[in-house]
Amino acid sequence: VGTTTDDAGPGAGAAIGAHLRRTVSSIAAVVETDVGWTARCDELPLVHTLNQVHVTAAAPPDRLLAATASHQAHLGYRHLVVEDPGTAGALRDVLSRSHGWKTDREVWMALREPPARQVDTSRVTELTEDETVCLMKQWLLEEGLDGTPGVVDQLAEYQRREGRAWTERRFGVRAADGAPVAVTKLRSDGDGTAWVEDVYALASARGRGHGRALVTHAVNRARAEGNGLTFIVADDDDWPKHLYHDVGFRPSALAWTFHRDASTG
Ligand SMILES: CC(C)(COP(=O)(O)OP(=O)(O)OC[C@H]1O[C@@H](n2cnc3c(N)ncnc32)[C@H](O)[C@@H]1OP(=O)(O)O)[C@@H](O)C(=O)NCCC(=O)NCCS
Repeated sequence: VGTTTDDAGPGAGAAIGAHLRRTVSSIAAVVETDVGWTARCDELPLVHTLNQVHVTAAAPPDRLLAATASHQAHLGYRHLVVEDPGTAGALRDVLSRSHGWKTDREVWMALREPPARQVDTSRVTELTEDETVCLMKQWLLEEGLDGTPGVVDQLAEYQRREGRAWTERRFGVRAADGAPVAVTKLRSDGDGTAWVEDVYALASARGRGHGRALVTHAVNRARAEGNGLTFIVADDDDWPKHLYHDVGFRPSALAWTFHRDASTG
Protein backbone atom coordinates (compact mmCIF):
# COMPACT_ATOMS: atom_id res chain seq x y z
CA VAL A 1 0.00 0.00 0.00
CA GLY A 2 2.97 2.28 0.46
CA THR A 3 3.64 5.51 -1.39
CA THR A 4 6.68 7.56 -0.50
CA THR A 5 5.62 10.54 1.52
CA ASP A 6 8.81 12.09 2.75
CA ASP A 7 8.89 14.93 0.22
CA ALA A 8 7.55 17.43 2.71
CA GLY A 9 10.30 16.77 5.23
CA PRO A 10 10.18 15.10 8.62
CA GLY A 11 7.51 16.12 11.09
CA ALA A 12 4.99 17.70 8.73
CA GLY A 13 2.78 14.58 8.64
CA ALA A 14 2.72 14.33 12.42
CA ALA A 15 1.93 18.03 12.75
CA ILE A 16 -0.93 17.76 10.25
CA GLY A 17 -2.30 14.71 12.10
CA ALA A 18 -2.20 16.65 15.36
CA HIS A 19 -4.07 19.59 13.82
CA LEU A 20 -6.74 17.32 12.36
CA ARG A 21 -7.19 15.59 15.71
CA ARG A 22 -7.39 18.90 17.54
CA THR A 23 -10.05 20.04 15.08
CA VAL A 24 -12.17 16.95 15.71
CA SER A 25 -11.73 17.33 19.47
CA SER A 26 -13.03 20.91 19.34
CA ILE A 27 -16.39 19.55 18.09
CA ALA A 28 -16.55 15.94 19.31
CA ALA A 29 -15.52 14.07 22.47
CA VAL A 30 -12.14 12.52 21.71
CA VAL A 31 -10.84 9.67 23.85
CA GLU A 32 -7.32 8.28 23.71
CA THR A 33 -7.06 4.51 23.09
CA ASP A 34 -4.05 2.18 23.13
CA VAL A 35 -3.83 2.33 19.32
CA GLY A 36 -5.00 5.88 18.65
CA TRP A 37 -8.23 7.64 19.54
CA THR A 38 -12.00 7.63 19.09
CA ALA A 39 -14.40 10.50 18.49
CA ARG A 40 -18.05 10.81 19.44
CA CYS A 41 -20.52 13.57 18.63
CA ASP A 42 -24.09 12.67 19.61
CA GLU A 43 -25.44 15.90 18.09
CA LEU A 44 -24.06 15.05 14.64
CA PRO A 45 -24.22 11.24 14.49
CA LEU A 46 -24.29 11.12 10.67
CA VAL A 47 -20.89 12.83 10.38
CA HIS A 48 -18.43 9.94 10.11
CA THR A 49 -15.34 12.00 10.95
CA LEU A 50 -16.86 13.09 14.26
CA ASN A 51 -17.64 9.49 15.24
CA GLN A 52 -14.55 7.76 13.90
CA VAL A 53 -12.17 5.16 15.25
CA HIS A 54 -8.71 6.56 14.50
CA VAL A 55 -5.66 4.28 14.44
CA THR A 56 -2.12 5.60 14.62
CA ALA A 57 -0.27 2.49 15.89
CA ALA A 58 0.21 -1.04 14.57
CA ALA A 59 -2.77 -3.25 15.42
CA PRO A 60 -4.27 -6.49 14.04
CA PRO A 61 -7.42 -6.21 11.87
CA ASP A 62 -9.68 -8.31 14.14
CA ARG A 63 -8.96 -6.05 17.07
CA LEU A 64 -9.73 -2.90 15.05
CA LEU A 65 -12.97 -4.35 13.70
CA ALA A 66 -14.06 -5.30 17.21
CA ALA A 67 -13.22 -1.80 18.47
CA THR A 68 -15.19 -0.26 15.62
CA ALA A 69 -18.22 -2.53 16.12
CA SER A 70 -18.26 -1.55 19.77
CA HIS A 71 -17.66 2.20 19.34
CA GLN A 72 -20.16 2.55 16.49
CA ALA A 73 -22.70 -0.06 17.68
CA HIS A 74 -25.47 2.58 17.81
CA LEU A 75 -24.64 4.05 14.38
CA GLY A 76 -25.69 2.89 10.92
CA TYR A 77 -22.11 2.62 9.71
CA ARG A 78 -18.56 1.57 10.52
CA HIS A 79 -15.81 4.16 9.97
CA LEU A 80 -12.09 3.81 10.64
CA VAL A 81 -9.20 6.08 9.75
CA VAL A 82 -5.77 4.40 9.78
CA GLU A 83 -2.45 6.25 9.62
CA ASP A 84 -0.11 3.28 10.02
CA PRO A 85 0.61 1.87 6.51
CA GLY A 86 1.22 -1.73 7.63
CA THR A 87 -1.98 -1.77 9.67
CA ALA A 88 -3.91 -0.25 6.77
CA GLY A 89 -2.52 -2.87 4.36
CA ALA A 90 -3.47 -5.79 6.61
CA LEU A 91 -6.94 -4.38 7.21
CA ARG A 92 -7.46 -3.78 3.52
CA ASP A 93 -6.54 -7.41 2.76
CA VAL A 94 -9.05 -8.69 5.29
CA LEU A 95 -11.84 -6.31 4.23
CA SER A 96 -11.40 -7.00 0.52
CA ARG A 97 -12.86 -10.42 1.30
CA SER A 98 -15.71 -8.86 3.24
CA HIS A 99 -18.89 -7.34 1.83
CA GLY A 100 -19.71 -3.66 1.56
CA TRP A 101 -16.48 -2.02 2.72
CA LYS A 102 -15.10 0.96 0.82
CA THR A 103 -11.45 1.98 1.16
CA ASP A 104 -10.15 5.45 0.34
CA ARG A 105 -6.66 6.83 0.68
CA GLU A 106 -6.05 10.48 1.39
CA VAL A 107 -2.77 12.30 1.12
CA TRP A 108 -1.81 15.05 3.52
CA MET A 109 0.28 17.61 1.67
CA ALA A 110 2.42 20.41 3.06
CA LEU A 111 3.40 23.57 1.21
CA ARG A 112 7.10 23.33 0.34
CA GLU A 113 7.69 25.08 -2.99
CA PRO A 114 6.60 28.24 -4.75
CA PRO A 115 3.82 27.78 -7.34
CA ALA A 116 5.10 26.31 -10.65
CA ARG A 117 3.52 29.32 -12.32
CA GLN A 118 1.91 32.49 -11.05
CA VAL A 119 -1.61 32.99 -12.29
CA ASP A 120 -3.90 35.99 -12.33
CA THR A 121 -5.81 35.85 -9.06
CA SER A 122 -7.65 39.14 -9.52
CA ARG A 123 -10.94 37.24 -9.97
CA VAL A 124 -10.75 36.03 -6.36
CA THR A 125 -13.08 37.71 -3.88
CA GLU A 126 -14.39 36.92 -0.39
CA LEU A 127 -17.60 34.97 0.15
CA THR A 128 -19.91 34.98 3.16
CA GLU A 129 -20.37 31.91 5.34
CA ASP A 130 -23.91 31.42 3.96
CA GLU A 131 -22.73 31.65 0.34
CA THR A 132 -20.04 29.08 1.12
CA VAL A 133 -22.48 26.70 2.83
CA CYS A 134 -24.70 26.96 -0.25
CA LEU A 135 -21.85 25.85 -2.55
CA MET A 136 -20.82 23.09 -0.12
CA LYS A 137 -24.39 21.75 -0.17
CA GLN A 138 -24.23 21.67 -3.98
CA TRP A 139 -21.07 19.60 -3.70
CA LEU A 140 -22.67 17.17 -1.24
CA LEU A 141 -25.69 16.74 -3.55
CA GLU A 142 -23.35 16.19 -6.50
CA GLU A 143 -21.65 13.43 -4.49
CA GLY A 144 -25.04 11.81 -3.93
CA LEU A 145 -24.88 12.24 -0.16
CA ASP A 146 -28.55 13.18 0.17
CA GLY A 147 -29.62 9.51 0.26
CA THR A 148 -29.71 9.55 4.07
CA PRO A 149 -32.22 12.10 5.44
CA GLY A 150 -30.49 14.83 7.45
CA VAL A 151 -26.94 14.07 6.37
CA VAL A 152 -26.47 17.18 4.22
CA ASP A 153 -27.61 19.47 7.05
CA GLN A 154 -25.37 17.68 9.56
CA LEU A 155 -22.35 17.92 7.27
CA ALA A 156 -23.04 21.61 6.65
CA GLU A 157 -23.27 22.19 10.41
CA TYR A 158 -20.04 20.23 10.92
CA GLN A 159 -18.28 22.43 8.35
CA ARG A 160 -19.58 25.58 10.06
CA ARG A 161 -18.20 24.35 13.39
CA GLU A 162 -14.86 23.47 11.83
CA GLY A 163 -14.66 26.91 10.26
CA ARG A 164 -15.27 28.51 13.64
CA ALA A 165 -12.72 26.25 15.37
CA TRP A 166 -10.18 27.82 13.02
CA THR A 167 -10.20 31.41 11.86
CA GLU A 168 -11.66 30.69 8.45
CA ARG A 169 -11.74 32.98 5.44
CA ARG A 170 -13.70 32.01 2.37
CA PHE A 171 -12.25 32.93 -1.00
CA GLY A 172 -14.46 32.61 -4.05
CA VAL A 173 -15.15 33.50 -7.64
CA ARG A 174 -18.41 35.12 -8.73
CA ALA A 175 -20.19 34.95 -12.08
CA ALA A 176 -20.98 38.20 -13.91
CA ASP A 177 -24.32 38.41 -12.06
CA GLY A 178 -22.53 38.18 -8.70
CA ALA A 179 -23.54 34.58 -7.90
CA PRO A 180 -20.71 32.55 -6.32
CA VAL A 181 -19.48 29.72 -8.58
CA ALA A 182 -16.28 28.52 -6.87
CA VAL A 183 -14.82 28.54 -3.37
CA THR A 184 -11.98 27.50 -1.13
CA LYS A 185 -11.34 28.06 2.56
CA LEU A 186 -8.20 29.30 4.22
CA ARG A 187 -8.08 28.34 7.87
CA SER A 188 -5.51 29.82 10.25
CA ASP A 189 -4.74 28.82 13.81
CA GLY A 190 -3.07 32.18 14.47
CA ASP A 191 0.05 30.32 15.57
CA GLY A 192 1.88 29.59 12.33
CA THR A 193 -0.34 26.94 10.75
CA ALA A 194 -2.77 27.33 7.85
CA TRP A 195 -5.11 24.80 6.19
CA VAL A 196 -6.46 25.15 2.67
CA GLU A 197 -9.70 23.15 2.60
CA ASP A 198 -12.67 22.32 0.37
CA VAL A 199 -11.78 23.47 -3.14
CA TYR A 200 -14.98 23.40 -5.18
CA ALA A 201 -16.35 24.84 -8.41
CA LEU A 202 -19.87 24.36 -9.72
CA ALA A 203 -19.79 21.82 -12.58
CA SER A 204 -20.87 24.54 -15.01
CA ALA A 205 -17.92 26.74 -13.99
CA ARG A 206 -15.08 24.20 -14.20
CA GLY A 207 -12.10 24.27 -16.53
CA ARG A 208 -11.77 28.07 -16.48
CA GLY A 209 -8.92 28.31 -14.02
CA HIS A 210 -11.02 29.16 -10.95
CA GLY A 211 -9.67 26.21 -8.93
CA ARG A 212 -6.05 27.08 -9.68
CA ALA A 213 -6.63 30.79 -9.02
CA LEU A 214 -8.30 30.06 -5.66
CA VAL A 215 -5.64 27.67 -4.36
CA THR A 216 -2.85 29.97 -5.58
CA HIS A 217 -4.50 32.94 -3.86
CA ALA A 218 -4.97 31.00 -0.60
CA VAL A 219 -1.35 29.84 -0.68
CA ASN A 220 -0.02 33.34 -1.46
CA ARG A 221 -2.02 34.66 1.50
CA ALA A 222 -0.87 31.88 3.85
CA ARG A 223 2.77 32.62 2.88
CA ALA A 224 2.39 36.37 3.23
CA GLU A 225 1.01 35.83 6.73
CA GLY A 226 4.17 33.93 7.66
CA ASN A 227 2.78 30.45 8.33
CA GLY A 228 5.47 27.83 8.89
CA LEU A 229 3.08 25.00 7.95
CA THR A 230 0.38 25.26 5.30
CA PHE A 231 -1.39 22.01 4.46
CA ILE A 232 -4.12 20.55 2.29
CA VAL A 233 -5.82 17.13 2.34
CA ALA A 234 -6.45 15.45 -1.02
CA ASP A 235 -7.79 12.19 -2.37
CA ASP A 236 -4.65 10.18 -3.24
CA ASP A 237 -6.46 8.44 -6.10
CA ASP A 238 -7.79 11.54 -7.85
CA TRP A 239 -6.30 14.25 -10.04
CA PRO A 240 -6.64 17.43 -7.89
CA LYS A 241 -3.51 16.41 -5.96
CA HIS A 242 -1.56 17.23 -9.15
CA LEU A 243 -3.01 20.74 -9.13
CA TYR A 244 -1.94 21.09 -5.49
CA HIS A 245 1.54 19.80 -6.37
CA ASP A 246 1.72 22.44 -9.10
CA VAL A 247 0.86 25.11 -6.57
CA GLY A 248 3.69 23.96 -4.30
CA PHE A 249 2.29 21.24 -2.00
CA ARG A 250 4.21 17.99 -1.48
CA PRO A 251 3.01 14.64 -0.01
CA SER A 252 3.67 14.38 3.67
CA ALA A 253 1.63 11.42 4.94
CA LEU A 254 -1.13 9.05 3.90
CA ALA A 255 -4.29 8.07 5.75
CA TRP A 256 -6.65 5.24 4.83
CA THR A 257 -10.37 5.43 5.42
CA PHE A 258 -12.41 2.24 5.76
CA HIS A 259 -16.14 2.70 5.61
CA ARG A 260 -19.18 0.45 5.55
CA ASP A 261 -22.84 1.42 5.65
CA ALA A 262 -24.94 -0.96 7.72
CA SER A 263 -27.48 -1.18 4.90
CA THR A 264 -24.86 -2.82 2.68
CA GLY A 265 -24.90 -5.86 4.99
C1 LIG B 1 -11.20 20.52 -8.22
C2 LIG B 1 -11.95 21.69 -8.88
C3 LIG B 1 -12.26 22.72 -7.82
C4 LIG B 1 -11.07 22.29 -9.96
O1 LIG B 1 -11.70 23.47 -10.39
P1 LIG B 1 -11.51 24.09 -11.84
O2 LIG B 1 -11.86 25.53 -11.73
O3 LIG B 1 -12.24 23.28 -12.84
O4 LIG B 1 -9.94 23.89 -12.05
P2 LIG B 1 -9.01 24.71 -13.05
O5 LIG B 1 -9.82 25.13 -14.24
O6 LIG B 1 -8.32 25.79 -12.30
O7 LIG B 1 -7.98 23.60 -13.48
C5 LIG B 1 -6.78 23.43 -12.80
C6 LIG B 1 -5.90 22.44 -13.52
O8 LIG B 1 -6.42 21.12 -13.35
C7 LIG B 1 -6.61 20.51 -14.61
N1 LIG B 1 -7.88 19.78 -14.59
C8 LIG B 1 -9.11 20.33 -14.49
N2 LIG B 1 -10.05 19.37 -14.50
C9 LIG B 1 -9.38 18.20 -14.61
C10 LIG B 1 -9.80 16.83 -14.66
N3 LIG B 1 -11.11 16.49 -14.60
N4 LIG B 1 -8.85 15.89 -14.77
C11 LIG B 1 -7.54 16.21 -14.82
N5 LIG B 1 -7.08 17.50 -14.76
C12 LIG B 1 -8.00 18.46 -14.67
C13 LIG B 1 -6.74 21.62 -15.59
O9 LIG B 1 -6.30 21.19 -16.86
C14 LIG B 1 -5.89 22.70 -15.02
O10 LIG B 1 -4.55 22.56 -15.43
P3 LIG B 1 -3.92 23.68 -16.38
O11 LIG B 1 -3.99 24.96 -15.59
O12 LIG B 1 -2.53 23.19 -16.60
O13 LIG B 1 -4.78 23.72 -17.60
C15 LIG B 1 -13.27 21.16 -9.55
O14 LIG B 1 -12.96 20.19 -10.50
C16 LIG B 1 -14.26 20.59 -8.57
O15 LIG B 1 -14.99 21.33 -7.94
N6 LIG B 1 -14.28 19.23 -8.41
C17 LIG B 1 -15.19 18.60 -7.48
C18 LIG B 1 -14.74 18.86 -6.05
C19 LIG B 1 -13.36 18.28 -5.75
O16 LIG B 1 -13.06 17.18 -6.12
N7 LIG B 1 -12.51 19.07 -5.05
C20 LIG B 1 -11.18 18.67 -4.69
C21 LIG B 1 -11.16 17.91 -3.41
S1 LIG B 1 -9.51 17.36 -2.97
